[in-house]
Amino acid sequence: MDVHCRIVAADASWARLPELLSGEREIFVVYDKNVAWVAQEVSSCLTVKGSIAICTSEESKTLETVQAIERALLQADATRGALLLAIGGGITSDLAGFAAAIYKRGIRYANIPTTLLSQVDAAIGGKTGVNLDGYKNMLGAFHMPEFTCLCPAVLSTLPAREFRAGVAEMLKTFLLADAEAYAAAVQLFADTKTPLLVSGQPQNERQDTETGVLVSELIAKAAAIKAAIVEEDPTEKGSRAVLNLGHTFGHAIEQQAQVKGDDIMHGEAVAMGMIMAARLSEAAAVAQQGLARRLEQDFAQTGLPNRCPYPVQSLLEAMAKDKKAAGGKVKFVLPVRPGEVVLKEMSVDQAYDLYLHTK
Ligand code: GLY
Repeated sequence: MDVHCRIVAADASWARLPELLSGEREIFVVYDKNVAWVAQEVSSCLTVKGSIAICTSEESKTLETVQAIERALLQADATRGALLLAIGGGITSDLAGFAAAIYKRGIRYANIPTTLLSQVDAAIGGKTGVNLDGYKNMLGAFHMPEFTCLCPAVLSTLPAREFRAGVAEMLKTFLLADAEAYAAAVQLFADTKTPLLVSGQPQNERQDTETGVLVSELIAKAAAIKAAIVEEDPTEKGSRAVLNLGHTFGHAIEQQAQVKGDDIMHGEAVAMGMIMAARLSEAAAVAQQGLARRLEQDFAQTGLPNRCPYPVQSLLEAMAKDKKAAGGKVKFVLPVRPGEVVLKEMSVDQAYDLYLHTK
């Protein structure tokens, strides 16, 4: 598959959008109700044939919501030439992308991500899908967006905790491939306690701050790294799996949190998961000694949680059941040092034995 992940930058005036979408006769906007203001701004500079508002939560990330989108499209006589414009976070792009993948056997879509996490990760690379019976992303399709439009100014209304959860995915990306950007991001987010880009005022009153410019640059860098990894291996036959750094432990942490009714965001679970992966990596003599400690300190500085509240054994048991477990083995992404990781398959028992020897 020849894939090009097209990332385009936009400012708060959305001046580029009409040009990007020129010639589109059937644009349908699918947007998260929480960012109706962004949908309104975007729609005001385009000719939109219909808008579909959705509620976004892991509970509503289901086939029923996809069906609701399909029905709305059908009722509006959307043809195979239609284009869905997904405006929202990762759940929105997963739902709208999957709806686009299957409506009339496939129509095009494009993403305008409105969370930091989706700007650096979820809205890039064409993974779409829904949860089934509480299992995350069990149904889905690879369906590449026409483009992902990054407008850092929309992050102005993102709650600080959600912003920090996105920082975790950004740090993950830099840990894969760019040690310098990793250090710069840690420093920036440690120094910036309220890392919002702009004042949160209406569009015409917004002022880009110096921090905002630096954050925008880091977002663009992380998005470009993700795009390059996806282009190398669009359907995750091999190397794309490095993007799961911190996610193998992270998903298990999220599952435990769900069982116990604890409130842990995806990015927070990934942060804790990266530290655990670093610990495992040290025990497997893959990482430099001290890497896990460094990540712990870095994440604490940026306001991310750095201690997993669950015993590692319960996480490894959950992992054994995870969809990524193949033939009893789990593919771990082990950091070597900032900027370098390796993929290593091992059994859950092996991982547990190694983990027992970590400090
Ligand atoms: N979020 C991981 C991936 O896109 O492969």
